[in-house]
Amino acid sequence: MAYPDLTGRSLADLISLAGRTAVVTGGATGIGKAIATRLAEAGATVVIGDLNAEMASATASTLPGAAAHVGSSLDVNDHASVTALADLAMSETGRLDIWVNNAGIYPSRPVLEITDAEWDRVMDLNLRGTFFGAREAALRMQANKGVIVNIVSTAAFNSSNGANPAHYVASKHAVAGLTKSLAVELGAKGIRAVGVAPTLTETPGVEAKRAEGAAVNEALVRYGQSLPLGRLGLPDDIARVVLFAASDFAGFVTGTVIPVDGGDLAR
Ligand SMILES: NC(=O)c1ccc[n+]([C@@H]2O[C@H](COP(=O)([O-])OP(=O)(O)OC[C@H]3O[C@@H](n4cnc5c(N)ncnc54)[C@H](O)[C@@H]3O)[C@@H](O)[C@H]2O)c1
Repeated sequence: MAYPDLTGRSLADLISLAGRTAVVTGGATGIGKAIATRLAEAGATVVIGDLNAEMASATASTLPGAAAHVGSSLDVNDHASVTALADLAMSETGRLDIWVNNAGIYPSRPVLEITDAEWDRVMDLNLRGTFFGAREAALRMQANKGVIVNIVSTAAFNSSNGANPAHYVASKHAVAGLTKSLAVELGAKGIRAVGVAPTLTETPGVEAKRAEGAAVNEALVRYGQSLPLGRLGLPDDIARVVLFAASDFAGFVTGTVIPVDGGDLAR
């Protein structure tokens, strides 16, 4: 089934997500919260799933728009938990249009100190969790309405001179590959898959790294200053591009990873 021709639709209509349902994993805080906020502002009903269920509900209650947003517990490591979240979105609204695989971890560790357990934890959460989400979402999406957005990283392109840990770099390269396969195999159903790749972005996860010490903090400041646009990313910088990718504006965009990096990868 060919993807519909959107020529002639108004700009306002193309950006609108009114009547659509979006799930954001790890959406209680950070980049996920900013994404949930922009998708809600565009009119979607947003279902936030997060390991921190209380914060997921609190964030959902602050989202803009007329829709009744929902927050729920989620562990993307647990297939049953991902399925339950997809079922919740369906039972709340009867449809599932957008699934944002945002939950991810990035523990700092030199390559020779990565333990087997930590390797598995990063791969399970960042890669397998993204696969679980994509599969459960695609099984429930209507033809020509579905979009899977995977939050990748500039670590899907390089290791930032070792600034990004090896298991994280490997997991994000793999998510970029998964995004291509999803796009190719699901394109016939009109389901799109798009990656969005932030550079270092000011979130609670990165804030926690600052607390590791002055040297880490200084390195983060220097990294921001070194970028062509002169600062680190902000969650809303990423969220605006996710909104674009999820909307009909990007109706002919699939199987690609869009860097949102202040020029990081251009250096
Ligand atoms: N912040 C950055 O510099 C940066 C850069 C590039 C890519 N990213 C990617 O963006 C995404 C979000 O990063 P962030 O910095 O906003 O993270 P964060 O640590 O600030 O927030 C992550 C959220 O995910 C939730 N979460 C953690 N484990 C989970 C699990 N197993 N199941 C469900 N939810 C879980 C947390 O409770 C939290 O609400 C990640 O995929 C990360 O790799 C971040």
